[in-house]
Amino acid sequence: MTRYASVLDLIGNTPVVDVSALSPQPGVAIFAKLEGRNPAGSVKDRVALSMVDAAERDGRLIPGEANQTLLEPSSGNTGIALALVCRLRGYHLKVVLPTNVSPERRQLLVAFGAEIIDSPGNEGSNGAVRLAQSLSVDHPEWIFLYQYANPANPLVHYLTTGPEILADVPEITHFVAGLGTSGTLMGVGRYLKEHRPGTQIWAVEPPSGETVDGLRNLDDGYVPPIFSDNDGERLLDRRVIVRPRESIEWTRRLTDVGLFCGLSSGAVVAGAVKCAATIDEGDSATIVAMIADDGWKYLSTGAWSDDLDVVVERAKATIYF
Ligand SMILES: Cc1ncc(COP(=O)(O)O)c(C=O)c1O
Repeated sequence: MTRYASVLDLIGNTPVVDVSALSPQPGVAIFAKLEGRNPAGSVKDRVALSMVDAAERDGRLIPGEANQTLLEPSSGNTGIALALVCRLRGYHLKVVLPTNVSPERRQLLVAFGAEIIDSPGNEGSNGAVRLAQSLSVDHPEWIFLYQYANPANPLVHYLTTGPEILADVPEITHFVAGLGTSGTLMGVGRYLKEHRPGTQIWAVEPPSGETVDGLRNLDDGYVPPIFSDNDGERLLDRRVIVRPRESIEWTRRLTDVGLFCGLSSGAVVAGAVKCAATIDEGDSATIVAMIADDGWKYLSTGAWSDDLDVVVERAKATIYF
């Protein structure tokens, strides 16, 4: 179908493309699921719509009623996706944003009509979360969806992303995705374990104390409630560490197969390649790697044009995610 009633109907049903040319093993196929095709540009469109729909169902949001405000601490894709959904549903969105986020992100939020509340740049995304939490206590009338603890986040991946992957790649043996809130891994992981037992679920994390935009290391002290609620330790088969430099290198390598993706996708593909390297020669496997977004929001990193060391240093000072 190519005719839709609303932009929100364009969310999901993203394509999968064969990128096995990047595989280090002839018997291991790698497929990329392209979430950048969602209308606000990332996997988080699914989550934003799912959380708003759930809040409408449980009566926390009332469609059509004036002066309803949502609050979100996101420098990244969830804020942008929520801004789109709120614009179309008629809600006001306040986004708490560290002052050092990339200009692309700030402008995308403004484009969709979100109001920005600044949080200190040196406190990063965690500072934005803390400020939003205290604002939500002071303003109980604002709806705080909080993707890290909202069951509608993993649920939408269980109901949509997982089934799409299995329908398109029924021979899947490994699913590799970045770990941010863990919503993707928990929802898709649970679906695949139930419907294709034996599928391995691999999480990509940055080294403890370092950042790859959008991803977190569970050992850094914050374990998202949705991870614990879904028995994440048991669901994940492996946690693979990818350094910021490798993620940028693989973001560049992805252009070899024609993909222009965000930096977390470089990390995920680096993780998928590490996964492929564990398969014994002569054995076969099929890996699906989650490509969370496209490269447009990361152009100011210089990831495709500048010296690698310069890009790595620049990425430390600015929150691209
Ligand atoms: C670009 C990007 N990569 C990876 C992730 C991680 O996904 P999740 O929050 O489902 O763990 C996110 C979201 O936080 C993201 O926006």
